[in-house]
Order: sequence, then structure tokens, then C-alpha cells
Amino acid sequence: MTNQHFLELNNVYASYGRVNVLQDLSFNLARGEAVGILGRNGVGKTTTLKTIMGLLTCNQGSIFFEGKNLNTIAPHKIPHLGIGYVPQGRGIFPALSVKENLFLGVKGNAPEELVAYVFERFPRLRERLEQLGGTLSGGEQQMLSIARCLLMEPKLIILDEPTEGIMPKLVAEIRAEIKKINSKGIGILLIEQNVKTALDLCSRILVMDKGKIVFDASTESILKDPKALSKHLDIKI
Ligand SMILES: Nc1ncnc2c1ncn2[C@@H]1O[C@H](COP(=O)(O)OP(=O)(O)OP(=O)(O)O)[C@@H](O)[C@H]1O
Ligand SMILES: [Mg+2]
Repeated sequence: MTNQHFLELNNVYASYGRVNVLQDLSFNLARGEAVGILGRNGVGKTTTLKTIMGLLTCNQGSIFFEGKNLNTIAPHKIPHLGIGYVPQGRGIFPALSVKENLFLGVKGNAPEELVAYVFERFPRLRERLEQLGGTLSGGEQQMLSIARCLLMEPKLIILDEPTEGIMPKLVAEIRAEIKKINSKGIGILLIEQNVKTALDLCSRILVMDKGKIVFDASTESILKDPKALSKHLDIKI
């Protein structure tokens, strides 16, 4: 295949029952790129991620990851292709311990250096291995969700509002982690409400409205001319 993208969504449609949410959605990501998706509440950002992960059926169009058609792959196998998913509201298992949550997706044993690296990055988790996931603070749960992805050695991590409802000090920690992950060559697809965070972490910004992409520009060009982006979001940058 020529011009194969790392992640590619082509004219995707998806719905909940008869309610269409994604309508002709197309975008792509290059290997190692960090891309942010902004957009008002309810435009279909979370639905986009669920459809990539196969949790919602793609009714029309196609989604490719490294040339593989995700529509033809069972949802439980998609993470093992190298896509880590940090869902909105974290998606950890409250009744399992931190340790059980962490190693849930790992087949066999995770490489020792990787486990050491993850514990070094997230010392708060190492200190709380036996604590139940549901008793962690919101920010700690978010870190647990990110750490769990890292242990699966992903090539791409998709994060759905990872700093939503989290106190500023932990927000800074999570942002720094996301930057660090991207600097290791792992691609990032980030849903974000905070425009500053998105511009800080991503080199390209997309805006969604009514189930499709209505704006796509590099962070560099947005910083030179913020009006084009702010027009889509009803905000000042
Ligand atoms: N399980 C569901 N059943 C029916 N409708 C749903 C379901 N989940 C989401 N929707 C609807 O689909 C639309 C898109 O929802 P989605 O969660 O993708 O929005 P979003 O852009 O992530 O919003 P937010 O910024 O509030 O997280 C909304 O109108 C929502 O009410
Ligand atoms: Mg959402």
C-alpha cells in the first residue's frame, strides 16, 4: 500500500441505535505524532475513540492501523496490536488491586526493565500496589490507567480527557508524563477540553463538530494565527 498512514480513519460513520454520531469522519496520524482533538461536549470525541477500539461498530468507512483494517479485528485483540486506550473516567477496575489492574493486559511477564521504568515514573502506584483501584484518588486512577497502557508496550496511546476533574498539581504531572511518553516515540491521540494543554502536548490539532473534523492544523500555525482555531471553539486563545 502506498502512502500508508500509522492510523487512518476514512469516511467513518458510527451510531448508537438509530442516532448517527460519527458522520463522514476522516483524519490520520503519522507514526510517533501527537495529535489533539478538541470540540464541544457531545460532538462525538469519545465515540471516535470507542470506534477506533472496536467498542462501537464502524457502519461505513474504514479504520486502518499500520495497514491493518481494524473493522476486521476482534475488539479484545486491538490493544495487542499496539494501541493503548485510557478511557474518559479512567476505566480501571475498582474492586481489583492496583497491582492486578496494572498487569491485566499483559500476556506472560512484562519485561523487567519496563516494569522498573513504569514504577520509577509512577512512584505513587508502587507505594499502593495492594490498595483497591477504586480507593485511589482521581489523579492516581488516571496514572494507573496510563501506567497499565505503558506495560502493554503500545505504539500509540489514545487518551480521553486525562486531566478532567483533577487537581492542578496532578494535572501538571500527568501532562509531563504524556510529553515524556511521546518523546519516546509513542504516538499520542489526545482528547482535551483545555486548549492550552492540547497546544502544549500536541504538534497538530483537530476540531470536531457534529461527528466530523472541521479543522486540522499544526500547532505551529495555530500559535502564529490563533483566530482560525478560536473561531471554531467560541473562545479566545
Ligand atoms: N451509549 C450511548 N447511547 C446513546 N447515545 C450515546 C451513547 N453514548 C454517547 N451518546 C451520544 O452520542 C453523542 C456523542 O457523545 P460522545 O460521548 O462521543 O461526545 P463527546 O464529544 O465525547 O462529549 P464530551 O466532551 O461531553 O465528553 C452525544 O449526543 C451522546 O449523548
Ligand atoms: Mg467524551
